[in-house]
Amino acid sequence: MYCVKKITEDITWIGSSDRKLPFFEGVYPAREGVSYNSYFVDDSKTVVIDTVDKSVSGMFFENLKYMLKGRPLDYVIVTHMEPDHSATLGELVLRYPEVKVVCNQKTVNMIKQFFDFDIEERAVLMNENDKFSSGSHEFTFINAPMVHWPEVMMAYDSTDKILFSADAFGSFGAIDGSIFADSVDYEKDYLDEARRYYTNIVGKYGAQVQMALKKASSLDISMICPLHGLVWRKDLDKILTSYDKWSRYEAEEKGVAVLMGSIYGNSSAAADIIAGKIAEKGLPVKILDMSVRHFSEAVSLAFKYDRIVFVSPTTDGEIFEPMAETVKAIASRNLQNRKIAIVENGTWAPVSGKNIREMLSGLKNTEIVENTISIRSSLKEDAETLADSLVSAICD
Ligand SMILES: Cc1cc2nc3c(=O)[nH]c(=O)nc-3n(C[C@H](O)[C@H](O)[C@H](O)COP(=O)(O)O)c2cc1C
Ligand SMILES: [Fe+2]
Ligand SMILES: [Fe+2]
Repeated sequence: MYCVKKITEDITWIGSSDRKLPFFEGVYPAREGVSYNSYFVDDSKTVVIDTVDKSVSGMFFENLKYMLKGRPLDYVIVTHMEPDHSATLGELVLRYPEVKVVCNQKTVNMIKQFFDFDIEERAVLMNENDKFSSGSHEFTFINAPMVHWPEVMMAYDSTDKILFSADAFGSFGAIDGSIFADSVDYEKDYLDEARRYYTNIVGKYGAQVQMALKKASSLDISMICPLHGLVWRKDLDKILTSYDKWSRYEAEEKGVAVLMGSIYGNSSAAADIIAGKIAEKGLPVKILDMSVRHFSEAVSLAFKYDRIVFVSPTTDGEIFEPMAETVKAIASRNLQNRKIAIVENGTWAPVSGKNIREMLSGLKNTEIVENTISIRSSLKEDAETLADSLVSAICD
């Protein structure tokens, strides 16, 4: 069975959604599913823009066959080699032996590493700003290195003013019905997953995303077609503004992410007291218990809000493991421009605070409140005073 979605008169989405994937890239829970977008251009020449992950290749090939209606497939544009979009390339070449692969030299080199088919004889090499015509559509290629593989090249269709943006502007979340962002409740149903996708997968490469955005700003874009998630044909500013903020490490809003771990419940109680006082100050606050949350949720929340409170017990002379993973994930995403406070806990020799501080010491333009609150097992009569001092240090 096929299931295609019309994007324009002669461009059609031929991708598919995976709603059973436990972990995207082997690590990110994909509870809302994930879509792998592939686009078919019905022109004098037939063109596929990127293929899909192996898990949805069945639907993809049905869709492609349906769109070709017996015509040969002339070209496949490969914006990058990452297997979530290119794993199906080998089978595509077997099914459509005449297909030429439009990509850059770096991608050719990677294709050789992943596949055995002869790429040299079928590669149509493109460099930045080169143009490729399929008849009425003319594509210009734009390098977007590290967004998020080194060889990424976006394709701009100057005929329809469409930016095929590779993974940029993508999102977790399956396509349920409409593929257009303006036809769904984006803020309610997709924004959190778009942020979790961006901050975790591309978050580290803010500078490179800024470069890509700069290049995009010189183009007249009426539609953005990414490789995951929704297609943008209205209110493009919405997603462009989000990407601009996220890649400049600027918070979306004032608020506090309370990222905590607890074994026996005392650090958890401290987090509750602190969050209550933050709320009284009128700031949005959200507690994530990292024993049951995935670190990618914490990364996402840390990008959303401008303040973070870390609350962690000490275990075996180190940071409690779920918290250690969380702190490492945030530090490795290069987060900047934040205010941070730390609460540690330990019964005989608390060190988690010192260790967290060290791990975050490299974050640019980030203030870590000087006094770590150090709890010996549980908060006592001084609970209110300690919590008040931390809350005023982080909120005022
Ligand atoms: C496996 C394990 C190792 C621990 N190692 C340390 C430690 O090295 N230093 C310390 O001060 N406390 C250590 N503790 C004690 C806890 O950090 C301490 O009881 C803390 O108050 C727990 O906070 P909670 O009630 O939020 O779980 C350890 C506890 C466990 C379960
Ligand atoms: Fe990718
Ligand atoms: Fe991808």
